[in-house]
Amino acid sequence: MHLVYQHQRGKYIGLSVLLFSLCLLTFATPVLANHTRLIPSEALSDEPIQPLHSHEPLDPEKIQLGRSLFFDPRLSRDNSISCASCHHLKKGGSDNQRFSTGVGGVTGKINAPTVYNTHLNLAQFWDGRAHNLIEQVSGPVENPLEMASSWPEIIQKLSQDKSFIKRYQSVYNGKLKAKNLITSIAEFEKSLTTLNAPFDRFLAGDNNAISEQAKKGYAIFKSYGCTACHQGANIGGNMYQKMGVMADYFAERGSAITESDLGRYNVTKDNYDKYTFKVPSLRLVVLTAPYFHDGSVETLESAINKMARYQLGREISAADVQLVIAFLKTLVGKHKELTLPATE
Ligand code: HEC
Ligand code: HEC
Repeated sequence: MHLVYQHQRGKYIGLSVLLFSLCLLTFATPVLANHTRLIPSEALSDEPIQPLHSHEPLDPEKIQLGRSLFFDPRLSRDNSISCASCHHLKKGGSDNQRFSTGVGGVTGKINAPTVYNTHLNLAQFWDGRAHNLIEQVSGPVENPLEMASSWPEIIQKLSQDKSFIKRYQSVYNGKLKAKNLITSIAEFEKSLTTLNAPFDRFLAGDNNAISEQAKKGYAIFKSYGCTACHQGANIGGNMYQKMGVMADYFAERGSAITESDLGRYNVTKDNYDKYTFKVPSLRLVVLTAPYFHDGSVETLESAINKMARYQLGREISAADVQLVIAFLKTLVGKHKELTLPATE
């Protein structure tokens, strides 16, 4: 389960060695930043968390077409809902609801995660049922609790729109095809990487990029063992773990077990996978309340308390929780679609 992490670590160690040699040659400072990738400094290249990197290569024309489809309510049966209705790009890529509202006002059964940085995840959805973003796109389109539509229906609607066809044909030849629409949306999703977070700049050697509080918070995050599950560039997204490793989260939650609570079991039908979920990324977690797959927890304080208790079998002091939050705030990077929260 640590394969992804190991692989990335190897890559970064390799890069750091190269970078270090370059520095010796040029006597330059050991911080190398370009538009897409911050390289960890020699001292921090072995950390369990590493800087985010953009997906490469990407096709800008497909991204543009995919972006317009992401905001297009014609993807839903009654033209009322677009992907952006549940994934607010300005606000962190989720909808800040416990459960989302789909076509006709129906309520979903699981919390909507962010769409930022998902190309880094080992699979898509809480239970990992889509192997990649191409497979993921048809999920919400066809889900009766979300867009309740189908590709033939969407193609029929879009075919009547001359200006859409013109835009489509500047990217693809011939008639509208579901495969191309899906590829474009996935291309847009792959472009949603939040780069240059203060924490990533810190990892790249800028010691002043984050506060002393945040540095303490990071030390606490590691010392409690959060990085056993929340690790790598996305600080999550690279393994499945049970919710309630050390204590029974569901018994103490007090509401009946739902099908969504079964998590990865719904995909594998293996008892071992019951209550197991893809570990969520913590990159934008300060923006995406409420928390957990069941959206049952409203504040980050409470989510962290529950994590310590159910995943690590420990209690965490209120002061330590605040320091961890100071650290989590430094994980938010930039993207042109995202409005950054005001800094305190
Ligand atoms: C009605 C609300 C709703 C709409 C509309 C919607 N989504 Fe989602 N999205 C969700 C929910 C809820 C989940 C979690 C489902 C699950 O894990 O079973 C999700 C999950 C995802 C994920 C997986 C993220 C991860 O980390 O696993 C991606 C990516 C995504 N949606 C993109 C899209 C795209 C693209 C569209 C439009 C084609 C779209 N969504 C439309 C609510 C919505
Ligand atoms: C054993 C693995 C594991 C450990 C250790 C762990 N987590 Fe988690 N974390 C998870 C899983 C799995 C979820 C999703 C649970 C769910 O949705 O039911 C999660 C969810 C979260 C969430 C909510 C994210 C969201 O978008 O809903 C936060 C915040 C969080 N963890 C922080 C922490 C902190 C802080 C620590 C250390 C005190 C920690 N975690 C330790 C596995 C772990």
